Amino acid sequence: MVVAIDGPSGSGKSSTSRGVADRLQLAYLDTGAMYRAMTWALLQQGVDLDDAEAIAAAAEKVTLESGTDPIDPTIHADGTDVADPIRSEEITSSVSLVAAVPRVREILVDLQRETIAASDGIVVEGRDIGSTVAPDAPVKIYLVADPAARAARRAAENGGADTAATELALARRDQIDSNRAASPLVKPDGAVVVDSTHLNLDEVIDAIVGIVDSAS
Ligand code: DC
Repeated sequence: MVVAIDGPSGSGKSSTSRGVADRLQLAYLDTGAMYRAMTWALLQQGVDLDDAEAIAAAAEKVTLESGTDPIDPTIHADGTDVADPIRSEEITSSVSLVAAVPRVREILVDLQRETIAASDGIVVEGRDIGSTVAPDAPVKIYLVADPAARAARRAAENGGADTAATELALARRDQIDSNRAASPLVKPDGAVVVDSTHLNLDEVIDAIVGIVDSAS
């Protein structure tokens, strides 16, 4: 079983995907963490993120490893545990530049497909899972929520950050992620739309587990 969960930032993808994987005893892969870890490694090397060619060349040499236990997902870049630093504001504000580079996407999509093939069943979250990484996934979910609800969640996660500023930052990221040439964020063909605006986490997990059960 492969469950592809795509959607914009703040739609609740991570908590939902981990919860679904845990409930169904599946592995879990956070592909956003991979783009973040790549960004961390490039910044460590002093790569100019406005230079797409330099990004593509440096990305070839970065080693990423993702641990797929939904209870304790891990991410290492060049042997360093980067689970905490990849959530910094610096990474969050630069990751879209790296994720827009086609060669970076090819490298990470290959790694993601290897992880999926090596698993006995997996929930994969991202922006292009149902459209590009695993277009044959038997279950594809497109998780959405109103911008204000997404901003309120992200602001709460960030220790009470300003909601209006968070909504602007999310809108900026959505704009880049949805308009880039390489695998933009789209609702994949055949995806079921789940709107989490008025649902709590357990309700969203229940809805998706129900969709998986009826597909298997
Ligand atoms: O889900 P997230 O916020 O951790 O994702 C970080 C960034 O990576 C986000 O700006 C979009 C990008 N991303 C992507 O382009 N494709 C994916 N499959 C996952 C994330």
